Amino acid sequence: MRKYLYFLPLMGLMLSACGTTGGRSTAHLPDRNSPAASAYANRCGSCHAIPHPKRYRYEVWLRTLPLMEKHIANRNMGAMSMDEQVLILSYLKQYAR
Ligand code: HEC
Repeated sequence: MRKYLYFLPLMGLMLSACGTTGGRSTAHLPDRNSPAASAYANRCGSCHAIPHPKRYRYEVWLRTLPLMEKHIANRNMGAMSMDEQVLILSYLKQYAR
């Protein structure tokens, strides 16, 4: 029983340290405190580093998203909702190169 008393605060600490982006830094993202940026970071930073929106032109991002949806499905992660996709794409459109 005593073990759990140490374990619980430790878990809390780990969870808060990880935040909502799986521990990956969002410091490089434009407008990083916006809901769109955090949706982007959540969805696009769980398998690899969060790519900077400036990496590609919007047309390339448009093609990338369906490819990533396949990876998401392959790993049995929850599919992106239409709202999430719209939010992420509008974010990428705004900040793409
Ligand atoms: C389920 C895991 C997973 C998620 C979630 C994911 N990706 Fe990926 N991504 C991959 C894998 C695996 C590769 C490498 C193979 C490939 O290119 O398909 C990759 C490659 C990439 C690449 C090309 C390589 C590079 O670094 O330039 C980009 C760009 C990218 N992902 C963007 C995104 C974006 C944007 C999202 C959010 C919509 C996203 N990814 C979400 C798994 C994921």
